[in-house]
Amino acid sequence: MPDANGKKVAIVTGGSRGIGAAIAERLAGDGFAVVINYAGSAAEAEALAGKIAQAGGRAITAQADVSDPAAVARLFDAAEAAFGGVDVLVNNAGVMRLSAIADADDAVFDSQMAINLKGTFNTLREAARRLRNGGRIVNLSSSQAGILSPTYGIYAASKAAVEALTHVLAKELRGRNITVNAVAPGPTTTKLFLDGKSQELIDHLAKLAPLERLGEPKDVAAAISFLTGPDGGWINGQVLRANGGVI
Ligand SMILES: NC(=O)c1ccc[n+]([C@@H]2O[C@H](COP(=O)([O-])OP(=O)(O)OC[C@H]3O[C@@H](n4cnc5c(N)ncnc54)[C@H](OP(=O)(O)O)[C@@H]3O)[C@@H](O)[C@H]2O)c1
Repeated sequence: MPDANGKKVAIVTGGSRGIGAAIAERLAGDGFAVVINYAGSAAEAEALAGKIAQAGGRAITAQADVSDPAAVARLFDAAEAAFGGVDVLVNNAGVMRLSAIADADDAVFDSQMAINLKGTFNTLREAARRLRNGGRIVNLSSSQAGILSPTYGIYAASKAAVEALTHVLAKELRGRNITVNAVAPGPTTTKLFLDGKSQELIDHLAKLAPLERLGEPKDVAAAISFLTGPDGGWINGQVLRANGGVI
């Protein structure tokens, strides 16, 4: 069921910056009313909501740390209060903290599991209870779940678990006409990827894909637009690697 203005409703977690911001903007352009979730970047989220409104779209912002189940319930409450229900969940919020397993302290492990895995679980549980029939769910994995480079162990493990949840929930939602898929980007030009890397390393990683460039947030948003749009309806329980051919 669309909202009173005829729009379907999408929640994008971590929509304030990077890939999530590109997804929110793309889905608004596709005709969704969008809920831009953020943890700390209120100003960026508000600016994006303003940009979407300027372009004729509908968007609200909603602060919630996805690792907190009560906050995630309030996020869905806010979406329902503003737009009458939720049709699409894009689980984009995530963090990456690289460390060799031998060197990793507990905080490096716990923070990535809390946000990437428990955060995804929290929103999936809420969506499984509250998404309207005919909805779509897309989880952000990472191509590192397949590449498995040194220092990416904990991050890749958190994303492998996200892929497992994706496959299981697709089966559990039988009968509701809701698809559950994952998109696994490769190196993409955001703060998460660029922070702490030398220009030499960035240039090297840009050449890994046969298409010989880094991904842009809008490249990933295009894959999510497909999975949440009319042409993606027969894709269910799959992981789509949007990475220029890295793996
Ligand atoms: N960039 C890449 O190369 C790449 C490759 C593969 C997969 N991915 C995945 O793509 C997703 C987006 O990554 P990105 O590169 O766009 O990262 P980013 O630029 O660092 O942005 C991360 C976003 O997640 C939000 N966030 C972080 N912790 C949160 C929490 N606890 N609760 C709610 N929101 C939270 C941030 O909001 P605040 O600013 O408000 O904290 C921000 O909007 C992640 O799941 C990442 O693992 C990225």
